[in-house]
Amino acid sequence: EAAGKSGYEHYMLKEIHEQPRALRQAISGRIDDLATSVDLEVDLPTEYLQSIEEIQIIACGTSYHAGLYAKELLETHAEVPVTVHIASEYEFRGDRDPWRTLVLAITQSGETADTLSALREAIRAGARTLALTNTLGSTVTREADDTIFIRAGPEIGVAATKTFVSQVATATLLTVYLGQVRETLTSQAATEFLESLRDLPGAVQQVLDQEPTIKRAAKTYADSKAFFYVGRKTGYPVALESALKLKEISYDHAEGFAAGELKHGPLALVTPDTPVIAILTDQAAAEKTVNNVKEVESRGAAVIGVASDPAITTNVDTMFEIPACGPLEPVVANVALQLFAYHVANKKGRPIDKPRNLAKSVTVE
Ligand code: G6P
Repeated sequence: EAAGKSGYEHYMLKEIHEQPRALRQAISGRIDDLATSVDLEVDLPTEYLQSIEEIQIIACGTSYHAGLYAKELLETHAEVPVTVHIASEYEFRGDRDPWRTLVLAITQSGETADTLSALREAIRAGARTLALTNTLGSTVTREADDTIFIRAGPEIGVAATKTFVSQVATATLLTVYLGQVRETLTSQAATEFLESLRDLPGAVQQVLDQEPTIKRAAKTYADSKAFFYVGRKTGYPVALESALKLKEISYDHAEGFAAGELKHGPLALVTPDTPVIAILTDQAAAEKTVNNVKEVESRGAAVIGVASDPAITTNVDTMFEIPACGPLEPVVANVALQLFAYHVANKKGRPIDKPRNLAKSVTVE
């Protein structure tokens, strides 16, 4: 088992460090040399993609958070309405031609019972289905009309890490592909996107190189009463995902909020003993979130800011500086917060790769 961990204390830490490679695999051969077009190796006819009226994403857990990220990208750049559904809550509704709805099942394992059951509901209703998965030969690949693989390699740690970033990277490729087919994305914007994707493995590596700083911060805050994560736009799913990571492996109370919602309730929970982690990335409308940061600071909470622009975070107690990476910057922020969650949990001596009560793949509804 030690050999499988390649010298890391846990599979989760190994998988966090594998992310640059996982991301390179996700995009390998899918972007042309000049970063002008995408090849997804999937048979989705242009005419069909032009005629889609809605995309419905179905997923659970971390994959659901990747779905929320994908919605932001797809609606903004491919101009298609997207709804994201927790798979166990999904029902196919509406009376238009169901084939004009593309149902995208995001599932690392390809075996999650709730996601498969939602997929079957979509198939019964007559929708076209597409799977986004890590697992060759999995049930979802056999049942969906088409499949795109995220190519992250095997993930052993129960808490998903590299598969989340690979899901978002692959959803970004899908966004550019759709945006080009639907003529909603200019060629310049497509190239900028594809270049950010190519820069992503290097940006993630720069965050991994800051592990000692993040580990020190984890020690400082590990004994807090609760942890709140806030973000906007694509920073919001990253806030949800980062909070999920911490609660899964440290057993601490952690919650993610859309930054603007803090004042509509959660602010009542904020005390000097509840650090607030603010995702202050460009794309996440950092300036507005800074106002929310001030609100929690005035209640005595410590703030950890994650940003590429140090000017934005001058007042925070702790700063994780990340490289700028365009629309994918929140993904880079997520990597810093994976390390934070890992080191909080490790300081507490938790069984990080196999948290109590959780399974890597849940095959019951
Ligand atoms: C379980 C795992 C989570 C995962 C979720 C969905 O709850 O513990 O890490 O996000 O299932 O899994 P899937 O394989 O469908 O992405």
